[in-house]
Amino acid sequence: MNTFHVSRRSFLKRCTMLAAATGLPLWFVERQLSAAEEPANKPPGPNDRPGVALIGCGGQGKNDAKNAVNWGDIVAVCDVDDQHAASAVKQFTVEGKAPKAYSDFRRVLERDDVHVLVNGTPDHWHTLINLGAARAKKDVYAEKPLTLTIAEGRRIVEAVQKSGIILQTGTQQRSSQRFRLACELVRNGRLGKLQQARVWLPAGLRDGPFKSSPVPAGLNWDFWQGQAPAADYVTERCHAKFRFWYEYSGGTMTDWGAHHNDIAYWAIGLIAPTKVESKHFSEPIPGGFNAYADYEVNYTYANGVGLQINTTKDDSIYGEHLNPQGQPNGIRFEGTDGWIWVNRDGIKASNPELLKTPLPADAVHLYQSKNHMANFFDCVRSRQLPICDVETGHRSATMCHLGAISLRTGKSLTWDSTVEQFTGEHAKEANGYLVREMRAPYDYSFVS
Ligand SMILES: NC(=O)c1ccc[n+]([C@@H]2O[C@H](COP(=O)([O-])OP(=O)(O)OC[C@H]3O[C@@H](n4cnc5c(N)ncnc54)[C@H](O)[C@@H]3O)[C@@H](O)[C@H]2O)c1
Repeated sequence: MNTFHVSRRSFLKRCTMLAAATGLPLWFVERQLSAAEEPANKPPGPNDRPGVALIGCGGQGKNDAKNAVNWGDIVAVCDVDDQHAASAVKQFTVEGKAPKAYSDFRRVLERDDVHVLVNGTPDHWHTLINLGAARAKKDVYAEKPLTLTIAEGRRIVEAVQKSGIILQTGTQQRSSQRFRLACELVRNGRLGKLQQARVWLPAGLRDGPFKSSPVPAGLNWDFWQGQAPAADYVTERCHAKFRFWYEYSGGTMTDWGAHHNDIAYWAIGLIAPTKVESKHFSEPIPGGFNAYADYEVNYTYANGVGLQINTTKDDSIYGEHLNPQGQPNGIRFEGTDGWIWVNRDGIKASNPELLKTPLPADAVHLYQSKNHMANFFDCVRSRQLPICDVETGHRSATMCHLGAISLRTGKSLTWDSTVEQFTGEHAKEANGYLVREMRAPYDYSFVS
């Protein structure tokens, strides 16, 4: 038996095992694995490890940095909370070599041996730090949602394109095979004509009123608040819970929405909806979290496709299934010939044949990445666009912001994506949410 037959047999065996383990169809796994012979994900050589700085050493920042050490060396960490910075120094010390700790990211940007940033700060800090990265010519793995406002988005797109840096948005579901499979099938008409996409996001937290308290030692609360209006320190405004306040984020619409709405956007394949309307089902508690927790948002696209975003209380804000019989978070695509459901647990269809039948060779294939961080570092080396480049990250965040603006105004709105403005009735009020006044000194001049 020749070596071709042996390696072909072991290749097929590997594919069968992987298909069984992942629940993905065999044809899709075979295509994946044969594409895997590309240099993608190749570990860098000893002289090919960029210096990495982690800005924002909270839950996700440390998670991302832990991933990044497969391709680079953490040489600096930065946080406005000394305890978070100290914990990151401890975590990323290798063989007695500790990364240096900073409290002002601008000092990190001055270092020549920092080539790459991981930006794991809260949403209201994303843009200024990413703009600083563009000005200092550092590549950046930028956590989602890319921006706090739609106006920030256009600004960061222009800055990144002008500077030539690589920016990967942290919407890692695009690098997950099952989400790409779902999107490719939808794009290639496997469901016939796509009529409706439905997204379920975990409901937000409805809690409060909260009491203010002294600022914890080691936290620079003024710096943490940055561009947002100054408020007394309240524990629930700060670490991790900031996402339930409009001052710093947009509730689950921009948090989980940055992932699932992004997949709907990828499958639908149009830049933006033309109409958005919404309703909310509970009022925020005065003095508590102010982002709507339970809501429904309906988008309409120019080709007649609808996208409905709903919240579910059956999953926690961390995505755990609180009620396994209930409605999980995820995305359902409905077409004239059937439906596909996909989430982080799996993919299924109205008829299993919809998944099993291979796509033809001339089918539309979407950008393929098997690991979001690996794709970023590959692009750092190749200078090619990553899977979730700045424009994609901006357009995907825009979908979430449009929903949040509709919820906040309570109005049915018309969106013109070519000029990135609302038009028609209520345009004046809605356009007021596209940009926010930034509190000095944390405005654009902060990183100029
Ligand atoms: N991709 C994902 O799956 C995923 C998951 C969770 C969170 N996230 C995103 O990651 C970001 C952080 O979320 P988190 O849950 O880790 O929040 P977190 O509150 O745990 O961490 C944020 C950290 O940033 C620090 N920080 C704030 N302003 C700073 C500044 N100007 N300079 C330096 N540090 C600053 C905070 O002190 C804190 O340590 C959010 O944008 C969130 O949407 C993404």
